[in-house]
Amino acid sequence: MKALVTGASSGIGRDIARYLKEKGYELILVSKTESKLKNISKELDSKYIVCDLRNKEEVYSLYEKVKNENINVLVNNAGFGLFGVFDETPLDRELEMIEVNAVAPHILTKLFLKDFIKKDSGYILNVASSAGFLSGPKLSTYYATKNYILKLTLAISEELRRKKSRVHISALCPGPVDTNFNKVAGGEFHTKSLSSEFVARYAIDKMFKNKLIIIPGFSMKVAMFFQRFLPTKLALRITYNIQDKKNVKWFEAAEKVVKKNWYIDLFISKYQFFCFFEKNGYKVSITSIYFSYFSHFFVLEAL
Ligand SMILES: NC(=O)c1ccc[n+]([C@@H]2O[C@H](COP(=O)([O-])OP(=O)(O)OC[C@H]3O[C@@H](n4cnc5c(N)ncnc54)[C@H](OP(=O)(O)O)[C@@H]3O)[C@@H](O)[C@H]2O)c1
Repeated sequence: MKALVTGASSGIGRDIARYLKEKGYELILVSKTESKLKNISKELDSKYIVCDLRNKEEVYSLYEKVKNENINVLVNNAGFGLFGVFDETPLDRELEMIEVNAVAPHILTKLFLKDFIKKDSGYILNVASSAGFLSGPKLSTYYATKNYILKLTLAISEELRRKKSRVHISALCPGPVDTNFNKVAGGEFHTKSLSSEFVARYAIDKMFKNKLIIIPGFSMKVAMFFQRFLPTKLALRITYNIQDKKNVKWFEAAEKVVKKNWYIDLFISKYQFFCFFEKNGYKVSITSIYFSYFSHFFVLEAL
């Protein structure tokens, strides 16, 4: 059993590699910084390949180097973001981001998928993001790349299903995770982040259970379920405000109000879930959570 993990030098990728090792996988670790890769490959007693995924030729050459290694699991995890308004952010950096977040996983997914289909086995995990469900003012290119990789993954999964293939593809869509992401992107999350270890373990467990869209964390699951009912312009305003307030201190105060609101909502929801179990009042319960969810955004907007 062998896995190739891109972006394995830090954060989610490094913890995915650690967990796959624990599960008995041989590893090929990929990223662009050799010093960091050396440390993790030493820790995991694994092979590593330095590859700058901004460069298509290096992506093709990566595949050539590993195509005969009988890899069963491909994790397209490497990626980065860039905060700022679209007319001010550097074009070159954005084009690099498109290469790393969208083009490289596209190439690797296609090349490995062909091999996996021939063997009729294998797993591909594409690391998208909760950003893949949304448009992201002030982080626009990043959100767009994550939409790309999520939608590509979903479409491929349906093709595989129609073929009755035993190859599985999944998209990992986490919300904020505590990694180097912010430092690289030049921003700061003021919302609670999940640990990369939790996200990695959750993702791999779900991938092996053939789950198509993997969203770690209960509140993010709920948020991603209900965001689809928001009118587009309202969703855009909310996302803009969330990104805009990333470095503003009083946003923390707003968060506290929202949290308080959550507690009240949780209390009501809990009560209604009891009603659900007793009286089978399923619709009442879900409707209430739906309105609670909206009320958070109204509190945020009001602030
Ligand atoms: N953190 C979050 O909140 C969050 C949420 C949702 C999704 N994600 C996604 O999770 C994935 C992993 O990010 P992370 O949060 O773990 O961030 P991270 O700690 O910054 O790790 C990013 C990884 O990507 C690699 N990478 C970046 N540019 C590369 C390039 N040009 N060529 C090869 N490798 C490159 C980095 O390698 P080097 O160290 O060599 O640069 C590093 O190993 C990304 O796709 C990100 O979009 C993150």
